[in-house]
Amino acid sequence: MSLSPAFLDELRARTHLSALIGKTTKLTKAGREFRGCCPFHNEKTPSFYVNDEKGFYHCFGCSAHGDAIRWMTDQRGLPFIDAVKELAQAAGLAMPAQDRHAAKKAERAKGLVEACEDAADWFVQQLGGIAGAEARAVFAKRGVKPETAKAFGLGFAPDSRGKLRADLKEYGDQLLVEAGLLIQVDNKEPYDRFRGRLMIPIRDQRGRTIAFGGRIIGDGEPKYLNSPETPLFDKGRTLFNLDRASPASRKAGRVLVVEGYMDVIALAQAGFGEAVAPLGTALTEAQLERLWRLSDVPILCFDGDAAGQKAAIRAAHRALPLLQPGKSLSFVTLPDGQDPDDLVRGKGAGAFEALLAQAQPLVDRLWAHEHAAEPLATPEQRAGFRQRMQELAQTIAHPGVQAEYKADFRARFDALREAARPARREWTPRAPGTRWKPPLAPATEQALAVKAAGIDRVLAKAVLAGLIRHPAEIARHMEVLGSLKLADGALGRLFEAVVDLAVEDRALDTERLVTILAKSGFDQIAGDLLRADQLRCSFTERDADPAMARADLDEAIAILVAGPEVNAALAEATAAMQAHYSDEAFERQVSLVREKQALEARLANLVQANEDARAFKAEGN
Ligand code: UTP
Ligand code: MN
Repeated sequence: MSLSPAFLDELRARTHLSALIGKTTKLTKAGREFRGCCPFHNEKTPSFYVNDEKGFYHCFGCSAHGDAIRWMTDQRGLPFIDAVKELAQAAGLAMPAQDRHAAKKAERAKGLVEACEDAADWFVQQLGGIAGAEARAVFAKRGVKPETAKAFGLGFAPDSRGKLRADLKEYGDQLLVEAGLLIQVDNKEPYDRFRGRLMIPIRDQRGRTIAFGGRIIGDGEPKYLNSPETPLFDKGRTLFNLDRASPASRKAGRVLVVEGYMDVIALAQAGFGEAVAPLGTALTEAQLERLWRLSDVPILCFDGDAAGQKAAIRAAHRALPLLQPGKSLSFVTLPDGQDPDDLVRGKGAGAFEALLAQAQPLVDRLWAHEHAAEPLATPEQRAGFRQRMQELAQTIAHPGVQAEYKADFRARFDALREAARPARREWTPRAPGTRWKPPLAPATEQALAVKAAGIDRVLAKAVLAGLIRHPAEIARHMEVLGSLKLADGALGRLFEAVVDLAVEDRALDTERLVTILAKSGFDQIAGDLLRADQLRCSFTERDADPAMARADLDEAIAILVAGPEVNAALAEATAAMQAHYSDEAFERQVSLVREKQALEARLANLVQANEDARAFKAEGN
């Protein structure tokens, strides 16, 4: 079916966007727009705007953006064509006529979906039956909880050539063969494809079952048997668990790609609902494009073995031509011999979170891979390396991104040559067979850089707003505030100015402080700060309880100061782990990630306490 741009424009014009969005998201009028808490990410203060006039929504928090059709595809998870159909129906617009061929195809696909969904139910029934005892035991042994099995629709195919065929015979052999549920060789009797296997339904973006993966019970070949390609199932365009991971990824602000079905299932059970997996094949361009609609930088988690690393670099190369400003990939390497399933089961969710925290950007991955590929002892070898990197950058289609990659590589080459220069040192022969390695940046230097950049700017702004509201509190925090190194120019200068003024005049009040700041050219930024409601805590409110504001300000400053310390320690632990993996280094990382999460939780508590207090007041107490 072809949809003309004119038809789509008409559709957008006839759709009342705020009413559409308002069905599921609470919106309130804000000037010419509507405002609400963003349904694409977790937030407590509304930064999601809907503009009926222009026909689009925009979130200032997570940058979710789109029109009515985009809303239906991204928020409701519908395929484009279904989104259009639903909107057209609501708007009373007739869809452009389909041709006969397409109509017939759609009709047949419907039958195939029904057969697959019935088969899925049947597999679930078999799992619950007497013959399913062994399969249930396998799931139990793997730590799959019954509710997880239910959520994923896990089932069992008994070891029989004809049970499914008999129970689903109303569909007829031809359709069941076409759905991939039966195998027919030449003109012989068709038989059940999946026999004696744990069954994992594969759903499309809308949640319809379109195929299956079947894992053998015990050892044997092949370990996984998958549905063949069918009119419903295009392996290269499908991602396992995409339907459930889409909304989860909006909330989590990230999407994870792992290698196996069981990894996805174990991760979901451990609280990472935002994971998908390709279906035993390398990531395709179509799959990458889908992933980029969920998150700017999908995180690819590959096994540490040679096969996993090869898959990682293949994905990296495939992504290059498709890169766009802001869109990239990052890479997590699992400890040797473990997949995400093993890891979360053995070491818990925190251990996996720690790995995610040290995901390697695409550019680093490419560099590290080529860098390790050949020795770089001679100018010729280095020139060869340079040429390989140049060729890689050349494959990036977007001119802006390509230019950035080239510049980045150039800077790295310069650093490399600088480090390779034997000049003032006495020449000592390298032991035969050893490779030249660039010196690692001293960990402390790296840590210092993180520390400077590690101040949470949103929190810093809130604290500064709090200090302007409560100048009397500045004195108690003078020492800590003086030691804060804010990388940011304007914000840093304002911090200094506020502290200086408070030193000079201990009886300063907000009004006087703001007046003096205005005279020093800070009126704009100070005014913005007091209005800003990015992060509302008791101390940024005009009318908060003074004791609460005071205590909360203390807590916020403690968090502000602790953040960079934890970040720096984490960067150092990460560098140590990347240089040399050890369980000890890993544990340290895990505990630092937990510390970081604890700080985030403390901050969230402050915001929540303020909200509670305001709600309490609003109720007229
Ligand atoms: P793995 O061999 O890593 O399996 O294959 P796994 O996920 O760790 O499974 P368990 O833990 O042993 O049960 C990863 C993915 O590759 C595809 C499947 O999609 C699998 O999830 N695969 C693997 C196949 O398609 N066929 C196979 O024979 C093996
Ligand atoms: Mn596994």
